[in-house]
Amino acid sequence: MNGIKIRGTGRAVPEKVITNQDLAHIVETNDEWITSRTGIRRRHHCAGETHTSLSVSAAKAALARAGVSPGQVGACIVATVTADTLVPSAACLLQRELGLPTDTPCFDLNAACTGFLYALHTMECLLNASPRKFGLVVGCEQLSRVINWADRGTCILFGDGAGAAVVECREGWPSIGAVLGSQGDDELLRLPGIETGERGFISMEGTKVFKFAVEVIPRCMEQVLEQAHMTAADVDFFVFHQANARIIDLAVRKFRIPPEKYYKNIQEYGNTSAASIPLVLSELQDLGKVDSGSRTLVVGFGGGLTWGGALIEFA
Ligand SMILES: CC(C)(COP(=O)(O)OP(=O)(O)OC[C@H]1O[C@@H](n2cnc3c(N)ncnc32)[C@H](O)[C@@H]1OP(=O)(O)O)[C@@H](O)C(=O)NCCC(=O)NCCS
Repeated sequence: MNGIKIRGTGRAVPEKVITNQDLAHIVETNDEWITSRTGIRRRHHCAGETHTSLSVSAAKAALARAGVSPGQVGACIVATVTADTLVPSAACLLQRELGLPTDTPCFDLNAACTGFLYALHTMECLLNASPRKFGLVVGCEQLSRVINWADRGTCILFGDGAGAAVVECREGWPSIGAVLGSQGDDELLRLPGIETGERGFISMEGTKVFKFAVEVIPRCMEQVLEQAHMTAADVDFFVFHQANARIIDLAVRKFRIPPEKYYKNIQEYGNTSAASIPLVLSELQDLGKVDSGSRTLVVGFGGGLTWGGALIEFA
């Protein structure tokens, strides 16, 4: 199978910022607790923006950065659990807003916070069979619409945002070597479906999810490295799903990753689920921390339960 590389990234976040201090007016919490337990200081929540407007802005920025026109796109996937409408999908709305060719497969993908990695792997498979070799992968969430404001264990964690990547598939490029997994569980992390009788909020067993994350992340990283016949020292940069700074710190310590080789933006955005990894990738590209040829190990985990890792390169 021919591999994909990232041509360009883009992002969009709502203007409205919710600080830890703001949350202390809503639930019994404080800045010290939130910062020390999670690393989160601020998160952005939609006020005028919508899921669609965020995904369109991020996708347009990625196309511009990649120098790719909508007519060159062969497939479009939006990883999300909070689209404006289930039908039409967020990806179909992107097709309309961007003017993607009507023979482009466009669909949403739900793997919760691992969604962007699942979507990258799916895109690699799709582009191998597509006459057009550019793909648009978007992670977009409006989690502020599914927050339970009476639950201080979860309402402090989540934010809205979108990140997008234009990828290219070329003969001879190595596969991203995605390692993906799942294990059905409806207790640790749950967001009910439509009209189930349950309130449409995220609920979570935080401590158990934390434990799951610190076990699955190193395992997944080791599998990706083993498959690529590499060690952590061979990796140029590490990108982690931004769910909790302490989870990232534990992985960094375990693999002895130096500070210049990883990045956190959880302090600014909180957990944005499927948008978290592309938001990091987009900031890294703007900061010039990754360039063509650098090998980036991306790892994520989330509800489902799901997890995944891959080795990606920028073209
Ligand atoms: C949610 C999370 C931050 C909670 O941190 P924790 O250290 O596990 O804390 P606990 O839930 O055990 O709660 C410890 C205490 O703090 C309290 N607490 C919970 N939320 C609080 C808040 N926002 N402010 C103040 N106190 C809070 C609890 O009530 C509990 O009090 P008690 O000891 O009197 O019962 C942490 O478990 C976590 O990040 N888990 C992973 C979540 C995740 O990654 N989810 C996304 C998956 S993609």
